[in-house]
Formats: sequence, structure tokens, C-alpha cells
Amino acid sequence: MRCDRVWRHARLATMTNDDMGLVEDGLIASSDGIILYAGPASIAPAWDAADVVDCGGRWITPGLIDCHTHLIHGADRAQEFEMRLAGASYEEIARTGGGILSTMRATRAASEDALVAHALPRLDALIAEGVTTVEVKSGYGLCAESEIRMLRAARRLCRERRVGITTTFLGAHALPPEYADDADGYIAMLCNDLLPQVATLGLTDAVDAFCEGIGFTPAQTERMFAAAARHGLPVKLHAEQLSNLHGAALAARHGALSADHLEYLDQDGIAAMATSGTIATLLPGAYYFVRETRLPPIEGLRRAGVPIALATDCNPGTSPLTSLLLVMNMGATLFRLTIAECLAGVTRNAARALGLRDRGTLEPGKRCDLAIWDIDRPAELVYRMGFNPLHARIWSGS
Ligand code: NIG
Ligand code: FE
Repeated sequence: MRCDRVWRHARLATMTNDDMGLVEDGLIASSDGIILYAGPASIAPAWDAADVVDCGGRWITPGLIDCHTHLIHGADRAQEFEMRLAGASYEEIARTGGGILSTMRATRAASEDALVAHALPRLDALIAEGVTTVEVKSGYGLCAESEIRMLRAARRLCRERRVGITTTFLGAHALPPEYADDADGYIAMLCNDLLPQVATLGLTDAVDAFCEGIGFTPAQTERMFAAAARHGLPVKLHAEQLSNLHGAALAARHGALSADHLEYLDQDGIAAMATSGTIATLLPGAYYFVRETRLPPIEGLRRAGVPIALATDCNPGTSPLTSLLLVMNMGATLFRLTIAECLAGVTRNAARALGLRDRGTLEPGKRCDLAIWDIDRPAELVYRMGFNPLHARIWSGS
């Protein structure tokens, strides 16, 4: 059978089951950027390929997927990091006009070109570790012009680099100064004016909100979700990061793709997520960086069968992190996830958290996005810290 390309003498972690779908002597065949075969060489069809790559026994996983980032933002917040080291809390800084609002000021001041230029080194760091798809949120503009500029900048990233980008509208991230003391008015503007514009322009693939004491109430979040439904957009939620407002259950009732953070998630929230098939996206970088001590309820999520994704949450305030390999290490070390859970978290379940059915595993019909690793066993991807064993990254078949 004819195909464009074959990778042979590879060991595969196809991620098609909970044991990573391992294949010892594996082969992948692709055409037009789509996998035609991924499995044991011994039972593979005889492929007639224009290009045959001998992998020399290296491991191949699906290209990694970072399903929660704030990659586009105007400036970093190293100064706030110094304040936190001196004893100020994340919430104190946020309440005194720092935090998200300080990034808002820098983001509003930046041109679209500047936003793209500032994000590219972060994107390149992800790509260098085998990442092939990245979700990027708005939420540092907090006004029509600047939110739209952020989303345009995010969309541009996939023209600048060979990578899949999905965008998420996070207008309900923080209350901008123009609406001080009028959060309901801001939410009404988002629902009635800005989200319809963003949807009409085709600039977003999903809608997210920050449901939290320093963010928005469950009632305001629900209004955002209702507006998203009017535009046929799926929803996600920053939920239970600093307290329990029962945001995850609310998100689940709206069929959310994912609820993210979840340190303060309770049993009712877990049950609701299990019922709706909502993915639990855990963000160990933020947990680590804000020195959170409360762990997300991992065992409860496992028992209920809620799939777990892992992501960088790359953002200047709580997770200035651009390594999915380190995220996996933190997932194992801080959250006690298994190797298979960590890898599923940045492949199969990350794809589900984005509603993308065409990637995240190595199987026929999926996109041929691959990461080829110089390792002897998959655990090495999780075990090392600050070491990158990527041998090659394949995006859309090449
Ligand atoms: O995912 N929680 C809200 N949003 C970000 C933090 C944003 C910021 O501090 O700039 C998060 O942790
Ligand atoms: Fe976030």
C-alpha cells in the first residue's frame, strides 16, 4: 500500500488505553498529514513509502498538547514575584491593582505585532519539547479592542510556527477599571456586545471565565455560559483554584469541556464532572508557584473516572512556565499521578479538554503529530527535570 512516510524500528506509546498503549517494535505510516497505521510492525501492511525513517528503537508519543495557556500577554511580573517572596499573597497583590490588572495595562499598551513577538519565545520553548497543539486564552485586554487584538495575535501564532493553536475567550478574567463596582455591567457588555463580535469574527473556539472571589460569581459565570451557548461555543472554567464556589459543578451542568485548577473541588463537583464527561485539567505549575498547599482531589477524580489533563497554565502571574515535561514531573511528584496518567494528561485527555477528536493518540485517522524521544522508557519523560530528550517533532506528517 502506498503512503507518504513510514517511521519504523520505533517503540510506540500510542496512548490508546490507560496503560499507554505500548508497542515494542512499532511502525507508523502516514499520508497527507494523517496516520494510516500505528501499531506492531509484525502485522503492518507492506507500505510503499516515498520516505522511510529508521527510528533506531526510539520512542514515539503523540505530539504533546498544552490545553491551558495564557501565552499572549504584554509583560512579565517578576516584580510581583519579588513582592510575594517578601510575604505578600497573590490575592493581596490582585486586590491592590496588581496581578491580572497589571498585565492588562501592559497588554493594552502592546500592538498585535508586539504581542506576537513577546509570545513566540514561549511558544518556541513549548515546541522544542515536542508540543504540537497549544490552547491560548484572551483575558488580559478586558476591553473590546484589546481582547480582539489578543485573539488575533493568538491566531497568528499558527502562521508563524508549525503548530496547532486553539483560542479561548476569557473576557471574564478580571474586572477592568472602567467597570469598577459594576461587575454585572461588565458581564452584560461581554455577553451582549464583545462575545458576539468575537464569535462573528471567528476568533474563538471556546469561552472560559474565572469563577472566584477575586474573579466572577457563579451567577455571572452562568451568564457567560448562556451567551456562549447562544453562539454555539463550548465552555471551560477556571474553577476552585483559591476557594470552593462550586464552579466545577456549574461548568459540568453546562457541558463544559474542562474545569481547570480544582484544588478546592469537592465530591459534588467530582460527581457532576463525571456525569457530564468534563475533563479535570490540573495545573501543577500554578499550584507550585503560588505555594498552594491544598492538593486537588486526585483519588476522588480517579475513583469517579474523571479524565485528568495537565497543562502549563503559562501566564505571568501564577505560572511563568513553558515546559510540559516539567509539568508532567510536577504532576507525578506533587500530585502523585502515575506515569501513564501524566502522559495521558498531555496527550489524549488534553485533546479532549479542547474538544479535539482528531489528535492526542497514535491511531489511524488521527493527525500525524508525533514526538520522537531519545529515551529508553516512557517514565524518563516524567522523571527528569530540566532535561529535554526530544529527538524530532513531526507536525502534520512532516
Ligand atoms: O490561571 N486564575 C486566573 N488566571 C490565571 C492567573 C492570571 C494572572 O495572575 O495573570 C491562572 O492562574
Ligand atoms: Fe489559567
